[in-house]
Amino acid sequence: MRTWFLGAMRMGVATAFVFVVMTGIPAASMAEEFGPVKAMKVDAKKAALGKRLFFDKRLSGDAAISCSSCHIPSKGFGDGLALAKAYPGSDGFRNTPTLINTAAKAAWFHDGRIGTNLNDVTRESITETYMMNMDMRLMQERIKQDPVYVKMFKDAGYGEPSNGSVRKAIPEYLKTLTSRGAPFDKGKLSDAAKQGFELFKGKAGCASCHSGPRFTDDQPHNIGVPENPEIWKNPRRHLTFVAFAMFMGIENYMNIRRDVGAQIRKHKADRSGVGSFMTPTLRELKQTAPYMHNGMIKSLADVVTFYNRGGGNDANKDPRIKPLGLSKEERANLVAFLETLSGDPLTGADHVWPGKISANYQPIQDWLKTKN
Ligand code: HEC
Ligand code: HEC
Repeated sequence: MRTWFLGAMRMGVATAFVFVVMTGIPAASMAEEFGPVKAMKVDAKKAALGKRLFFDKRLSGDAAISCSSCHIPSKGFGDGLALAKAYPGSDGFRNTPTLINTAAKAAWFHDGRIGTNLNDVTRESITETYMMNMDMRLMQERIKQDPVYVKMFKDAGYGEPSNGSVRKAIPEYLKTLTSRGAPFDKGKLSDAAKQGFELFKGKAGCASCHSGPRFTDDQPHNIGVPENPEIWKNPRRHLTFVAFAMFMGIENYMNIRRDVGAQIRKHKADRSGVGSFMTPTLRELKQTAPYMHNGMIKSLADVVTFYNRGGGNDANKDPRIKPLGLSKEERANLVAFLETLSGDPLTGADHVWPGKISANYQPIQDWLKTKN
C-alpha cells in the first residue's frame, strides 16, 4: 500500500486508480465451469516458512497479534465476528474474509483496492497501522534473531531473512489453502440442494455474479447491504475508518457515514461505484458467518431472504438485484445448496503454529511476554 500510494501521489491519484483497475482485473468470464478449485503448485519449503510466519505474533509491532489472530483456521480463516478486531488501540470496520482459495483471486480486500498480487496484500497487512502496525525493517531484524528462521530462510533458497522474502513466503503458504471435501465437489447433493443449484443458475440469478469454481466473478457490485451502525457509533472503529479514508483520499471523510467500498477504484467524478463491494466466494460459508463486507447478515437463510426481497435500497444498486418471488421451499433449497459448498474445516495439528521458540531467541521472547 505504501509504495503504491507514493506512486499514486506521484502519478496523480486519478491516474493511479485507473492504473489499478486496468492492471488488476481481467474481464469476468461467465463461461467458467463450476467445480473443484484446482490446487496450486507450491514450493514446500517456502510454504512451511510462510506458515511459521503466518502464525507468528512477532510480525506485529507489539508482538500481540499474528495473521492467524484474525484469520483463524477453524473458522475458515475468518474470525466469526461481524467486524474485525484491529491492532491494539483501534478496532476494525470490515468483516474478515476467508483466506481459503484467496491465492486464486484477481483483486483483494472487500473494495478490491489491491489488484496486483499477494505480496502487496501481505505487505499491507503487516505494515498497515490498524492491522499489524509493523515496520518491516524492524521485523526483518527480529526475525534474524531466531536461528530457526535463519535456517528456514536459507533452506528455502532465500538467503538471509529479509522483508522481501517474508512477503514472498507468506503468499506461498496462502497458496496451500484450497477448498477440500465440499459435498458439491464430491457430487453428494441432496434433492433439495440439487433444486437449489438449479435456482442458483436459473430463476434466482445468483450465478451471473457468483460464477466459476470459487463462485465469484472477482468484480465489485452494489447489492444494497445496509451500513453497520456500529462503525459510526464506536469511536475505536470510527477512528480506524477515518484514518483509512483520509489515506485513500476519500472525499469528505470526516463527515461521511458510509463505507464507499470499491468507489476508490474509480475516478472521483464517477460516483457509480459508491457502495459496491467485491463479489465474495461462496465457498466455506458454513464456517464464515456473519456475512457481507460489514457482517450485517447473520445467517444463510437471512442472506436468501435479503435477495428474495430484492436486496437493500441503494441508488447504485445493480439492476439484477430485484425481488425474486421464491417460495419458502425454494428459499430452503437455495440454502441447502449453499451449504454443500463448504468443505472440511482446516483444523488440528496441521494448522497451528508449527515452530518452537529457539533458546537463543529467549531474551527477546521474555521481553515480549511482559508485553502480552
Ligand atoms: C486485525 C485483524 C487482521 C490481521 C492481523 C490480518 N488480517 Fe488479513 N484481513 C483482515 C480484514 C478485516 C480484511 C479485509 C479488509 C478490507 O477489506 O479492507 C483482511 C483481508 C485479507 C486478505 C484479502 C482477502 C480477500 O478475499 O480479499 C488477505 C489475503 C489477508 N487479509 C491476509 C493476511 C495476512 C497474510 C496477514 C498477516 C500478515 C493478515 N491478513 C493479518 C483482518 C486481518
Ligand atoms: C449483481 C451481482 C450479484 C448477484 C446477482 C448475487 N450476488 Fe451474492 N453477493 C454479491 C456481492 C457484491 C456480495 C458482497 C456484498 C457486500 O459485501 O456488501 C455478495 C454476497 C453474498 C453472500 C455473502 C458471502 C460472504 O462471505 O459474506 C452470499 C451468501 C451470497 N452473496 C449469495 C448469493 C445468492 C444465493 C444469490 C442469488 C439469490 C446472489 N448472491 C446473487 C453479488 C451478487
